[in-house]
Amino acid sequence: MLRKVNVGIVGCGNISDAYFLGSKKFDILNLVACADLDPARARAKAAQYGIRACASVADLLNDPEVEIVINLTVPKAHAEVNTAALHAGKHAYCEKPFALNSADGAAVLELAKRKNLLVGSAPDTFLGGGIQTARKAVDDGAIGRPVSALAFMMCRGHESWHPSPQFYYQKGGGPMFDMGPYYVTALVNLFGPVSRVAGSTSAAFPERLITSQPLNGTLMPVETPTHLTGTLDFTGGGTGTMVMSFDTWPYPLPFIVLFGTDGTLEVPDPNHFTGAVRLKRKDGTAYEEIPHSHLAERSRGVGVADMAYSILRRDRAARASGELAEHVVEIMESFEKSSTTGRHVTLKTSCARPAALPVNLGPNELDS
Ligand SMILES: NC(=O)c1ccc[n+]([C@@H]2O[C@H](COP(=O)([O-])OP(=O)(O)OC[C@H]3O[C@@H](n4cnc5c(N)ncnc54)[C@H](O)[C@@H]3O)[C@@H](O)[C@H]2O)c1
Repeated sequence: MLRKVNVGIVGCGNISDAYFLGSKKFDILNLVACADLDPARARAKAAQYGIRACASVADLLNDPEVEIVINLTVPKAHAEVNTAALHAGKHAYCEKPFALNSADGAAVLELAKRKNLLVGSAPDTFLGGGIQTARKAVDDGAIGRPVSALAFMMCRGHESWHPSPQFYYQKGGGPMFDMGPYYVTALVNLFGPVSRVAGSTSAAFPERLITSQPLNGTLMPVETPTHLTGTLDFTGGGTGTMVMSFDTWPYPLPFIVLFGTDGTLEVPDPNHFTGAVRLKRKDGTAYEEIPHSHLAERSRGVGVADMAYSILRRDRAARASGELAEHVVEIMESFEKSSTTGRHVTLKTSCARPAALPVNLGPNELDS
């Protein structure tokens, strides 16, 4: 039996409960401490979950007990906190996006390599029963040779409900950096890495009116594209088309659809761990839901647990890896780069397709 790996959480905001709860579900993880820029937040979560609160982020990073730092800070602090964790000799796993640009992400990966430490990143929803079932169907040849993919995330933005929606419209926000990690990670998991990207991007509104409370009536500037369309060329062949938007009223589009020589597969929402997978074979008459090959439910934290096994067994590659996340960041940033330059962007990064999960795992169990 493998020993437990000690983890500490930096950033005790909205998403942190999912990790406080999630970490306790995986045998390999032992959550010991938390910290936040705001020490009161750390104290409140520590009391709630029965762990230690560190007085500062530096205290947590220098805590000899902590082996993995789970970085749940805001996107603009991800690379900085990951870097500090690595300098302190800790492995780092962060929420999405891995970095605000591929240069920052590359520096984190390079440091990790030099220090012989692992870095990983959300999303880990692709390890849920929904996407893993779709992955198995593709790998088993259910659609034949994959030739094309569609991915859509189109909505009217978040200023009507989110209490402080400004960050969605600042650099590092927008629909691509907010939701793109789920969609692009799922596509790379299903079809493999991407060799080049073409994009057209726009922002329908230079300012947006907040209608949620407490900022109702406040105008905020838009500093990032809010509608991104483009194409991906997969290294192994086939192309993908993506539309990510905060400028459009919802329309009943699918999340992700994969087209192959022998059939078509509808993939569930990549922002969730579960959901129906539907298949229409070339000779079929209708889309049929296929039974999940993997247990439907998993929880946030499965990517950290998977990384913990790889820390103890270095011959086992972590699935939600820094290399995958860095490739995803470069794909996402290339939409705007291509739109600005008027050319395809040939990518510098690539990654291995993460290994599929075995089918016979129990709830919150991983292949050790
Ligand atoms: N909220 C969600 O539903 C959700 C879902 C999926 C992913 N995420 C991702 O999780 C991350 C955090 O989101 P959130 O909604 O929890 O944000 P949040 O603003 O609620 O919480 C962030 C916390 O990090 C702390 N923080 C900020 N900078 C820090 C630093 N340099 N050092 C230490 N602490 C710092 C803040 O004080 C705050 O407590 C983001 O990357 C977001 O994209 C959030």
